[in-house]
Amino acid sequence: MNRLRPSPFRALLACALLLASPLLPAASPALIPAPAHMEAGEGGFAVNAQTQVYAEGRAARAAAARFVADVARTRGLSLRIVAKRPKAGIVFAIDRKASANAEGYALRAGRGGVTVKAADPRGLFYGAVTLWQLLDGDGGLHVPAVRIDDAPRFAWRGVMLDSARHFQEVEQIKLVLDAMAMHKLNVFHWHLTDDQGWRIEIKRYPKLTDIGACRIPAGDAGAGDGGTPVRYCGHYTQAQIREVVRYAAERQITVVPEIDVPGHATAAIAAYSEFGVTGQTLSVGNGWGVYPNLFNADEATMAFLENVFAEVIALFPGRYVHIGGDEAVKDQWQASARVQARMREVGARDETQLQAWMIARLNRFLEAHQRRLIGWDEILDGDLPADATVMSWRGIEGGIAAARGGHDAVMTPSNLLYLNRPQSDLPSEPPSHPGTTTLRNVYDYEPVPAALAPAQRKHILGLQANLWTEHVRTFARVQHALFPRLAAVAETGWSPAERKDYGDFLARLPAQLPWYRQFGIAYATTPFQVWIDGTGDIPAGKVSVALSNPSGYRDIRYTTDGSEPTAQSPRYAAPFVLPLPAQVKAAAFADERALTTANARGFDLASLRTRGNTTLASCSGEAMLRLEDDGPREGERANFNVDILNPCWLWPKADLRGIAAIELRAGRLPYNFELAHDESQRKFTPAGTPGGEAEVRAGCKGAVLARAPLPARPGADGFATLKLPLRKQPAAQDLCITFSGDTRPAMWVVDRVTLVPRKQRGGR
Ligand code: ACM
Repeated sequence: MNRLRPSPFRALLACALLLASPLLPAASPALIPAPAHMEAGEGGFAVNAQTQVYAEGRAARAAAARFVADVARTRGLSLRIVAKRPKAGIVFAIDRKASANAEGYALRAGRGGVTVKAADPRGLFYGAVTLWQLLDGDGGLHVPAVRIDDAPRFAWRGVMLDSARHFQEVEQIKLVLDAMAMHKLNVFHWHLTDDQGWRIEIKRYPKLTDIGACRIPAGDAGAGDGGTPVRYCGHYTQAQIREVVRYAAERQITVVPEIDVPGHATAAIAAYSEFGVTGQTLSVGNGWGVYPNLFNADEATMAFLENVFAEVIALFPGRYVHIGGDEAVKDQWQASARVQARMREVGARDETQLQAWMIARLNRFLEAHQRRLIGWDEILDGDLPADATVMSWRGIEGGIAAARGGHDAVMTPSNLLYLNRPQSDLPSEPPSHPGTTTLRNVYDYEPVPAALAPAQRKHILGLQANLWTEHVRTFARVQHALFPRLAAVAETGWSPAERKDYGDFLARLPAQLPWYRQFGIAYATTPFQVWIDGTGDIPAGKVSVALSNPSGYRDIRYTTDGSEPTAQSPRYAAPFVLPLPAQVKAAAFADERALTTANARGFDLASLRTRGNTTLASCSGEAMLRLEDDGPREGERANFNVDILNPCWLWPKADLRGIAAIELRAGRLPYNFELAHDESQRKFTPAGTPGGEAEVRAGCKGAVLARAPLPARPGADGFATLKLPLRKQPAAQDLCITFSGDTRPAMWVVDRVTLVPRKQRGGR
């Protein structure tokens, strides 16, 4: 039965409650991903230290052991695995009839005990995960009565983690794998090499990690005391990789390694310049974006790549090996006589075909080793071997083209499944790529493009969320980016399309948060927070306050007396007006419980006349990068929103009545972006003074309202504060703030804008 339809058990429940019966409620358990079929019953099965767990046959033992280990880890309860089938206990069994899908399972729970059956150990594992999720109650645990027949919609339910731009420790990778397993996600795509770091030990080429695993970060982060460089390093030994692969396999997760070819190769070429194009000695990259450095296509380089892939294959037993293929700008190949000669030699008509030739060659190598090649959707640009699989990231078009051409495809559209984008517009979101991708955006994604004919749809293997870590420097930020959005990915990957319902998902999500905490997962709380927005009317001494939750939780409660909001506090319905000064605290609630701690915001004349960077818009209307400061080396760093191609910050409709000057606090960040052909789009307005100027305009293209020269360098704290007297007295204006001059390798960014009022008689 579909739990979205009214349950016949509910009528019984109503009667039971009327009769004040001790029966447990028959509400369906809040599982994510939603099972294909679930029918809730009444009552349940108590689980305690006496509960016996039995595995019928060897193949069932692993699932039983995993369940017992997870219960011990998260609920502090030691269950016994017994040798004899108990009369009433928990039984795991392989049963060919349980499910037609190797990942499917059947679970039955009632007063007499629990049985989990599957045709294959994979399905039994997922049955054990569901059973663990079903365990309810704080003191005495029980499993509610339920019948579940479940199987996934897609075979590829993936997560990609970029360990090249920033490195994660093995224990941290294991926590990601733990959480993936609990979400029934089954592919861990591990991005191990890039311009900024080579992270996998290759015995035959030790310099790949001796040199390629370290970079000197840009700006203050890479400058130690007295100017000595501070290196950022990290790589996985082969023993560690085997450990990760084993840990993943225990959780039914296949690890797909990625070695990026022929671009994103700066770290490798820094180690072995002979495999690059120019022959120059390169440094490992410390900028973000797209570097121009490619591998050449010589025989020696192909042998190098095959030797690397030979060691990779020996470490990763999974079927797929990812060869990258993305963002390989061909300028170096075009400029190199040697590469041009090689192109002719292999019969490639242009650089795109040379890349296709390299990929076909690697495909032959992988096939000879019983592996399948997968690559980013650029691999479609040349002739692609028929059995290559395509990862569609530049939207869904790559997936459509792949499926129409008979290739399998995994859908990872960057606008919806790149978790390096912020998940709300709250100022507290950590550094990120541009473009907010909310929980709802992720949830609503449908992996099978409507444009595909029914016969082509089988080529869509599934979906994958990707986390690129240029701006994800810490593991806390990895967790923030992944959770809870992976819950949404999991449901799309697993649950039947017709079972998906965002409102229902939101209602089930709070029940999942305790297990995140039990595993020690620092999930993002921004999707559960309340954004408190205020529009001031300074002359009237008032502020109009609007409250919202980025995920769509509607039960928002607030206070205006400084106290914590509770389920009994006023419920927010529409914007309300408060006299200044005012303070507002607000939290979103589900089932009478606050989803996270309350947000607080105070409003007074001073706060209404100040905007911090993260509450300014961009003049271009484009989403902005959220960059972090390059210092201090240890501890918290400030964040700044910047549109690096058109750096201009907008305070819409600033109330300038009675304002004499604008005080601007500006900071300096490294301009460490490799933009390839996009670099020409970066606009610099000519500077009138040697250090350039800060300018405030009326609208993005309007008249200059105020201007002041910038200092040659900021103060010791990295900031400069300028006072810009207004040239005239407009009433309300869109204020646009820009900096003139080309100050690379650094750039000025707005930190704070303050409107300074005219001195008034009596002073205020
Ligand atoms: C990619 O985002 N460069 C695949």
